[in-house]
Amino acid sequence: HKRVAILISGGGSNMVSLVDSMTKDHPARPCLVLSNDAQAGGLKKAADRGIPTAVVDHRPFKGDRSAFEAELLKPLQEAQPDIVCLAGFMRVLTADFVSRFQGRMLNIHPSLLPKYKGLNTHARAIQAGDSEHGCSVHEVTAALDDGPILGQARVPIQADDTPESLAARVLAWEHKLYPEVLRRFAEGNRSPVLLP
Ligand code: GAR
Repeated sequence: HKRVAILISGGGSNMVSLVDSMTKDHPARPCLVLSNDAQAGGLKKAADRGIPTAVVDHRPFKGDRSAFEAELLKPLQEAQPDIVCLAGFMRVLTADFVSRFQGRMLNIHPSLLPKYKGLNTHARAIQAGDSEHGCSVHEVTAALDDGPILGQARVPIQADDTPESLAARVLAWEHKLYPEVLRRFAEGNRSPVLLP
């Protein structure tokens, strides 16, 4: 099996969808869930599923990304992942860190990239008057929310949507898209997944 490490910062619903997909004849298995926040709700969900967890708090490093990443690398390298999945991991990674996992690090982002890189994607899509929104899984490169797109799910925006209602609709598709992309990626298939 390919070994998959998953990086989270929060509730970890995408992490759960990935972990719960890696059963039976799936070509990968989870080897680590790593968080930058000890309060992340996903840590308990991972532990409940028998996945090793680790925490490296970014706050003591006071913005020194390289020093934070040096600590982050320790549990990650120990776990010897073949693939690293960012799943609601809310720290920007340096080019040096990303280069260590070149071609084997994935991220899920709540927009139809290349639109709306960065934060507050749902509010920005509503504000722009877009008729659709969605989520993307892409290979991580040094540039933020960039890199080859491996899958997208499109979601209609409704007239009465709030950022919260839209985020919930998109998140339900994230939970379908990310496992499908990961399974293919673990098989060496990088052809884009297009949902629904
Ligand atoms: C998800 O919507 C994910 O796409 C987004 O954060 C949420 C995490 O939810 N990621 C980003 O915004 C990355 N910049 P989760 O912890 O329940 O998976």
